Amino acid sequence: MTLSPSHPLMDGRTANSPLITAYRGGTPSRRPVWFMRQAGRSLPEYRELRVGTTMLESCLKPEMAAEITLQPVRRHDVDAAIFFSDIVIPLKLAGVGVDIVPGVGPVLDKPIRTAEDIANLPELTDEALEPIRQAVALTVAELGSTPLIGFAGAPFTVAAYMVEGKPSRDHLGPRTMMHAEPELWAALMNWAADASGKFLRAQIEAGASAAQLFDSWAGSLGLADYSEHVAPASVRALDHVRDLGVPLIHFGTGTSELLPAMYGVGVDVMGVDYRLPLDEANRRLGGTVPLQGNIDPALLNAPWEVLEAHVREVVAAGASAPSHVVNLGHGVPPETDPAILTRLVELIHSI
Ligand code: CP3
Repeated sequence: MTLSPSHPLMDGRTANSPLITAYRGGTPSRRPVWFMRQAGRSLPEYRELRVGTTMLESCLKPEMAAEITLQPVRRHDVDAAIFFSDIVIPLKLAGVGVDIVPGVGPVLDKPIRTAEDIANLPELTDEALEPIRQAVALTVAELGSTPLIGFAGAPFTVAAYMVEGKPSRDHLGPRTMMHAEPELWAALMNWAADASGKFLRAQIEAGASAAQLFDSWAGSLGLADYSEHVAPASVRALDHVRDLGVPLIHFGTGTSELLPAMYGVGVDVMGVDYRLPLDEANRRLGGTVPLQGNIDPALLNAPWEVLEAHVREVVAAGASAPSHVVNLGHGVPPETDPAILTRLVELIHSI
C-alpha cells in the first residue's frame, strides 16, 4: 500500500519541509525544531478550550483535537505539529476501561494481569478509529506545508500501564510478568503492538507525514530484557505502517544504553533524552542515524543566558550527526512560560 496522491507527503506540501528533509538525513533550509508536549497545559488557549471537557473526551472530539494540535504551531512557528492525543486512546477506542486522571496519568478500571484478562481484551476495530482519522484530516487541512507527526505508545510503555493499572516508578509488575509468565507477556505485548500499530496507521493514512513511537518507560529495562521481551513487539507495532514509507522516529527516556537496540527495531531517526550528549549518542549509533533532541526541560525555567548556552551546546553536539531535529529531551513541563518556547524557536532558527 502507498499513501493516497492527495496526502501532504505525496502532493508536494511536506516532502521538502525542513523536518522531513532532516528526518531523511538531508540538509534542511532551516534548522527544524518542535517540542514534545508542545500542545497542552503550558498554553492558556489550551487550558481555556479544555474547561468542562476531560482529557480523553477532548482527544475524541475531532474539531477540538485538531484545534489543540494547531495552537502551538500558530504560536511558536515550530517546524512540526504533533497530533494531540494520548498513548492510551487505542485502549479507550477498543473498549478497555481507562481514564486519564489529572495530575496522575492513565488509570485502568481493572489492571490486566491474568490469562483470562488478556484473552478478554477487545480488538481495536477500524471503525472505532474514525474520530482519529477525522481529527487528522481537519488538522492537515489547516497546516499547509507544516508536517503533522503522528504517534503511538510503544507496546512496553502501554503494557506497563495495563499491568500496573496506573503510573508506576519501577514498573515491577510488567518486569515480573515478562520473566514469570513469558507467554502471557508475549500475548499482552502483541495485543498492545497491534492496537498501537492500527492507531499509528490511521493517523498516517489520514495525513500524518511522520510517526513517532514513544517508549517512555523503556529506560527501566536492561538491554537483555529489552532485546528479548520488548523489541519484538515494537517491531510488530511498526510493521503495521512500514509500507506507507513515512519517516519513523523512536524515543524513550533513560535509554542511553538501549539506543542501538531501539534503532534496531527498524526506524529512521532516534530521539535522545536529555541525559546523553548528542555527539555521544551519534557515536553509539555508528554515526549514520539522524537524531532528535535533546534540550533539558529543566533549563526552560533557568535564566535565559543559561538556557541559551545550553541550547547552543545541544546544537553544536547535534552537528556531529548526519542531521538533527531540535527538540526537548522529554516533554514541555506544564508550568513552562510559553513565551520562552517562542523565543527558543527564534534562537534555534537563527543559529
Ligand atoms: O503535544 C504533544 O506532545 C502531543 C500530545 C501527547 C499527549 N500525550 C497529550 C497529553 C502525547 C505525544 C502524549 C503521549 C504520552 N501519554 C506519553 C508518551 C510521552 C511522554 O511524555 O513520555 C505518555 C507516557 C502518556 C501517558 C500520560 N498521559 C501521562 C503520563 C499524562 C500526564 C498526566 C498529568 O496530568 O500529569 C497524560 C495526560 C496528557 N496527555 C496530557 C496531555 C496534554 C495532560 C492532560 C491535561 O491537560 O490535563
